[in-house]
Amino acid sequence: MHKEQVQIFDTTLRDGEQVPGCKLDTNQKLIIARQLDELGVDVIEAGFPISSPGDFKSVEEISKLVKNAVVCGLTRSLKKDIEVAAEAIKKAKRPRIHTGIGTSDSHIIHKFKSNREDVLERAVAAVKYAKTFVEDVEFYAEDAGRTDNEFLARVCEAVIKAGATVLNIPDTTGYCLPEEYGAKMKYLKENVTGIEKAILSCHCHNDLGLATANSISGVINGARQVECTINGIGERAGNTSLEEVVMILKQHSDLNLDTNINTQMLYATSQMVSEKMGVYVQPNKAIVGANAFAHSSGIHQDGVIKNRETYEIINPKDVGVTESAIVLTARSGRAALAYRAKNAGYELTKVQLDEVYTQFLDFADKKKEINDDDIHILIKKSNVSIVA
Ligand code: KIV
Ligand code: ZN
Repeated sequence: MHKEQVQIFDTTLRDGEQVPGCKLDTNQKLIIARQLDELGVDVIEAGFPISSPGDFKSVEEISKLVKNAVVCGLTRSLKKDIEVAAEAIKKAKRPRIHTGIGTSDSHIIHKFKSNREDVLERAVAAVKYAKTFVEDVEFYAEDAGRTDNEFLARVCEAVIKAGATVLNIPDTTGYCLPEEYGAKMKYLKENVTGIEKAILSCHCHNDLGLATANSISGVINGARQVECTINGIGERAGNTSLEEVVMILKQHSDLNLDTNINTQMLYATSQMVSEKMGVYVQPNKAIVGANAFAHSSGIHQDGVIKNRETYEIINPKDVGVTESAIVLTARSGRAALAYRAKNAGYELTKVQLDEVYTQFLDFADKKKEINDDDIHILIKKSNVSIVA
């Protein structure tokens, strides 16, 4: 059955780079942009060109470099922002301007000290102005997660009329529940005249740990673009994690949705971004964490050694990890020890395994993790006559 495509919009170099202390220079951004292009992302949000001369230069250089992806520059709904972004992306093969404004009452009243009608007008004017520079204009309704659906629908309808090609519905504060965020997408699909002319986009923040769940709920309800970052990095608790969304869509073939991502490059890309930004990946991070394919308890190890799929729903090779790891700790059983001993060159009989296992438990209680060197020592210390 033909699968529908979900566009992957990577904002590692814009929203992701807003992590405190993680500023990248142009050269580092170019290296990451090349990797993202090879990874197969559909859109690279290269930066916020008016924010600094350095960001302008990075967006300009990335625009010249990228071969396949759309290159996008962020703006507020201000003429000057749009002019600067248009200049920065003008050498891109496929340029996009990403403009928008806050639409929640909180933004309208406190940030703009304004009213809904004025914000609606500013939104339309920004899109119309951006259209004078590029064909592809994405509109974001900042804090859409807390925006009243009826007003949000009015804004969406008006900016589509003004020429917006993509409608970004950000849960800027990471507040929504998956059902609520999905319902918002559904509401827009059903209540915005002309919605078929634009792509709905999910942009979720992770303040309550729901960014990925909300994005998936968004696509289930009709969104066809997901905005995300490598390793889920971003301001505060971060953005939706690219690798999580991509692998959820891949593993759940029942959703009938697909992306253009070469999943075998995910692990290397995660490592590259972590190294360049100086932000380590938490070990239990889904898909790319050091422990994502590591098994340490005896019951799990026994199951995985007999059949990998007993405890793994993803083949590690599919994300560029060579193989699952059987980690030896005091919680490991005989099956794991025999497996690791075999890999280290020792084929143990049942009696020999019992002998080495007793020594192993003693050692493992003192040491957190047993490595191959330790296995050699254990075998030597045990009363078994085996030569590796
Ligand atoms: O989270 C957000 O609302 C944003 C917009 C600027 C797109 O990052
Ligand atoms: Zn954001």
